[in-house]
Amino acid sequence: MLPLRGPHLVTDHCRRALTAVGATGYDAPRMDSSLVLKNDRVLRAFRKQPVDVTPVWIMRQAGRYMPEYRAIRAKADFLTLCKTPDLVTEATLLPIDLLDVDAAIIFSDILIPVEAMGMELVFTDARGPQLPKPIRDRGDVERLKAFDPETATGFVMASIRQTNRALDGRVPLLGFAGAPFTLATYMVEGETSKHFYRIKRLAYEDPSLLHRLLERLTGVVAEYLVAQVEAGAHAVQLFDTWAGALSPDDYATWCVPYTTRIVEAVKRTGVPVVLYVNGSGTFLEAMADTGVDVISVDWRVDLADAKRRVGRRVALQGNLDPCALYAGPDVIRREAVRILEKYGPGPGHVFNLGHGILPDIPVPHAKALVTAVHDESRVYHRSGA
Ligand code: CP3
Repeated sequence: MLPLRGPHLVTDHCRRALTAVGATGYDAPRMDSSLVLKNDRVLRAFRKQPVDVTPVWIMRQAGRYMPEYRAIRAKADFLTLCKTPDLVTEATLLPIDLLDVDAAIIFSDILIPVEAMGMELVFTDARGPQLPKPIRDRGDVERLKAFDPETATGFVMASIRQTNRALDGRVPLLGFAGAPFTLATYMVEGETSKHFYRIKRLAYEDPSLLHRLLERLTGVVAEYLVAQVEAGAHAVQLFDTWAGALSPDDYATWCVPYTTRIVEAVKRTGVPVVLYVNGSGTFLEAMADTGVDVISVDWRVDLADAKRRVGRRVALQGNLDPCALYAGPDVIRREAVRILEKYGPGPGHVFNLGHGILPDIPVPHAKALVTAVHDESRVYHRSGA
């Protein structure tokens, strides 16, 4: 019954999760003590259920723009931080305490599973993530390890459990992973790329090798996300950040089949799945075809247009330009209203930025966004719960 092909490792806990399909689905957070969410707006909006106000969270909401985050980072380098559950919990809670956002997202990075597959990973302040020995041939792909997420990335699962205990049900906790194509860009390019020449060259020169790499990543990412749900993640987001570099036909070839299989595996656990692509305007329909519950769109997309195109099939998340937060509270409020108007009345919208918050945004501006979204959206939910 497994939708995943290829030589991936299926651990006992994953098999349990993958086979646990009941009438009401499988609800891991309910397994985790008697945790009842005090604020479940984000989960309700993901499922297109009525809410009192439009929920909001911010991609990269725990980050360098916060002095409190920089203080944590003064104690540990980025990877050590990601691997220390006490520090992860502290970082994950910062935006809940300081901004009043409606969801927490576990503090980590999409490249953690890439390291667990055996690739060397370093984070530099100047150039971001670096993989000094990128994938160059078939041998490099075959040498990648499948891994048990509860052991190789046990610190992520421990962090999810500990963060949920600290949250005490204040808001849901989101898990996440990079989607296969975006992880493959890092593995092949070796760093964040501007033009993606290397991975596109591989796609044209040796398509079977890129398919093989994506196949291997699909098994790993599905198991990694299911393990996060088992640890207590209430929903998960798949980041296919760099898939926007692809043509619609190439998105259909290199992303849709793999993402679909991951979505199938995770949805069996019963939690909603969000899919984010930066630059997805030309293939929103294909993203919806993967079976995700929510599409997270960037600012280049007109939200009213996105709602017309895919709003019957999925909820939408987004989509303020992160640069709008450079302006003061009045402009931020005006821009929030503009986006709320675009989505219009009715459930199924989670407010967010179109990409991660920038490192030099003043914290009060982020807080002003959250306040504005809550204040100004009430009129759209008059009949809401
Ligand atoms: O949203 C959150 O608050 C959760 C934390 C989170 C981080 N990375 C922390 C982080 C999440 C969800 C990510 C995902 C991620 N990581 C993506 C997909 C989302 C996106 O923004 O497109 C990507 C492409 C990465 C890879 C990555 N990690 C890059 C390109 C960088 C450098 C960027 C930069 O601003 O320097 C990182 C490092 C990173 N990941 C930081 C944080 C807070 C900065 C590290 C530091 O503290 O020095």
